Amino acid sequence: MRVWLDKNPPPNVQRPAVVRRIIVCNQKGGVGKTAVTSGAGQALAEGADLLHPVRISKHFAALLNEDQPRSPLDYEDLPGPGLRVLLVDFDPQGHLTKQTGHDPLQLDGDSLTKHMAGEPKGDLRDLIVEVDAPRFGGRLHLLPACTDAFLLDVKLSGVRAREAALERALSPVEHYYDVILVDCPPSLGLSMDAAAFYGRRRPDEDPGNSGVLVVVQAEDSSADAYALLTSQIEDLRGDMGLELEYLGIVVNHYDARRGYIATSSLEAWMAIKDPRVVGVIGDLKEQKEAVRVKQPLLAYAPRCDQAVALRALAREIS
Ligand SMILES: Nc1ncnc2c1ncn2[C@@H]1O[C@H](COP(=O)(O)OP(=O)(O)O)[C@@H](O)[C@H]1O
Ligand SMILES: [Mg+2]
Repeated sequence: MRVWLDKNPPPNVQRPAVVRRIIVCNQKGGVGKTAVTSGAGQALAEGADLLHPVRISKHFAALLNEDQPRSPLDYEDLPGPGLRVLLVDFDPQGHLTKQTGHDPLQLDGDSLTKHMAGEPKGDLRDLIVEVDAPRFGGRLHLLPACTDAFLLDVKLSGVRAREAALERALSPVEHYYDVILVDCPPSLGLSMDAAAFYGRRRPDEDPGNSGVLVVVQAEDSSADAYALLTSQIEDLRGDMGLELEYLGIVVNHYDARRGYIATSSLEAWMAIKDPRVVGVIGDLKEQKEAVRVKQPLLAYAPRCDQAVALRALAREIS
């Protein structure tokens, strides 16, 4: 991969001046962080040489009373952004790695954890692999997980300026990419602090370029988890003086047929306004099927409702 990176200078598309860092988080498991990280990354990497259906982001409110089938007027075909994207599997469970058809890294070999702990065994570029499908044109890459990440919080406790550990580890590969998405573990420990720090606004960076994307579900238990997460983010902002922005809230697993619980809860998320809801993604079978066959969703079912919603999300946060 290192050879590939050096031999393939970025193509001629409009690219961000500072690499965009998108930190996908929520300490609640099963809400769809991995699905959103993967899908948004895929949508950003799709090529500009092809047209891809994108859900028109008219008002999400229309979804509140919509369980009718999609009409052709609800989406339009647009060229892909064609960006170079790195997906970082920052969850020791390695779901993102496995779902994109790769194996987690060997425990005794090199890993992101070792780079963060200041004990690298090699060049981080040698760990990166490609998520392969023609529509991504070689632009979609993955830094796989390693089970040693279960020990990350312990290892980090002995590291100098530990909140900057993820930034130090990833900075040598940053200039190869336009967007780096970090799939966070379901926890609020030191690793989450390091991820949040990595998503802060840098001095030379425009507002809204990088930040935190929170994935929630349209149900009440998600609101409690959200309150915990935002209070940790407030603490980080205060304690470290970070300029940490929210890129938005993604409401996942949305199913209007579940009735009042789902619709009232979507309304509650939309009422927050800051951060705003930037995506509403339905609960659909294609996501689970793609996971089962270990294929990227946008390659497995490029025209499914979830794919068109993920493309809209990717454009909403760009
Ligand atoms: N919109 C969706 N529709 C259907 N299944 C989904 C959707 N989003 C996620 N899933 C499935 O739900 C499970 C949990 O999602 P995942 O992305 O792994 O959550 P997290 O990373 O927050 O733990 C996975 O099996 C995933 O395939
Ligand atoms: Mg996950």
